[in-house]
Amino acid sequence: MKTLLVGYKAADLFERGKHGKKFTAKWIDGDVLCHTLDIYHRHAIEKTHHIRAVCSPHLPEGPWDLIKFKTGPKLMSGELSLDMLQEIHRLKPAKFELEFVGKERDRNELLSKIRDDPDRVRDFSAKWPASVPGGDKLMFTSYPGCFCHRRLDEGGLALAEVISRDLTSSPFPHSSFLKLLDMGCGCGLVGFLVKSVVKDISLVMVDSHSRAVEAANLNAANFNMSAEVILADNGTPARMDGTFDVFAGNPPYYSDYRIAEVFLETAKRALKPGGLCYTVVKNDAGLRPVQERYFPNVEVIRRRGYCVLKSVKA
Ligand SMILES: C[S@@+](CC[C@H](N)C(=O)[O-])C[C@H]1O[C@@H](n2cnc3c(N)ncnc32)[C@H](O)[C@@H]1O
Repeated sequence: MKTLLVGYKAADLFERGKHGKKFTAKWIDGDVLCHTLDIYHRHAIEKTHHIRAVCSPHLPEGPWDLIKFKTGPKLMSGELSLDMLQEIHRLKPAKFELEFVGKERDRNELLSKIRDDPDRVRDFSAKWPASVPGGDKLMFTSYPGCFCHRRLDEGGLALAEVISRDLTSSPFPHSSFLKLLDMGCGCGLVGFLVKSVVKDISLVMVDSHSRAVEAANLNAANFNMSAEVILADNGTPARMDGTFDVFAGNPPYYSDYRIAEVFLETAKRALKPGGLCYTVVKNDAGLRPVQERYFPNVEVIRRRGYCVLKSVKA
């Protein structure tokens, strides 16, 4: 029996036995593959279960005897749920089970959108414009699952504006050819906007989400800008340590500052001495002391209702 699990996280695969001991759930049997969109979830599953996991922007080809899909309004956007259902329909598993977390009414509404016209292939990608002063207008493509799908993030734009203004207004102390690390790149908003103004810059982009990586690669090709795009949840490879002039990060803040710390730790490793670290946050009060642990000097630059925190690596 070949089973594909879609939308499941490590914690969903546990059952508790006597004395609260955790073990891999009994309903998981046979040849099971767990699909994840984010490499963090793949690593978490592989660390805690003896289940194969894969991280990719699209579902792996079958044939599948069973596909089980876990979703709900609190787990993923309605558009991503539909996109996944469309992919599952295309794979034609012998059996399909939906574990819907939410109201019956929402479940029926979601399924009706597919049942009404199951063979219709919808394109869920979106295109939207963004630019910084002095740069071209770029038409970004994003996918469901990417951060800020269908719209520009004002925090990311503020970050790109501050970095491009800094890099064009003052001569950089190191070299005329700069290397920028855009961590948590999403579809590449910050890095590509900076490159639209600072032409002599090479880009490395990192994101833990496979659809962000897919979108960033597509945008690089569409903008005719080269970029090395890496799927990772723990920063750049060690070979890149100490090689960057500039670090840009717009980390997610849903887990307090745990992920921001992964970003700052990477920035500290990746930057050359004298390199510049820029992060962005709505309100600097929480992030500032965290950033000061990695870089003792933090300048706060206010823009578009956000705070860009700038540090220089000693
Ligand atoms: C707030 S979004 C910023 C996206 C883009 N830079 C922008 O400004 O629009 C944060 C991004 O960080 C990514 N991310 C979260 N944890 C990560 C990690 N440990 N390593 C790399 N990227 C991560 C998310 O997938 C998401 O794309």
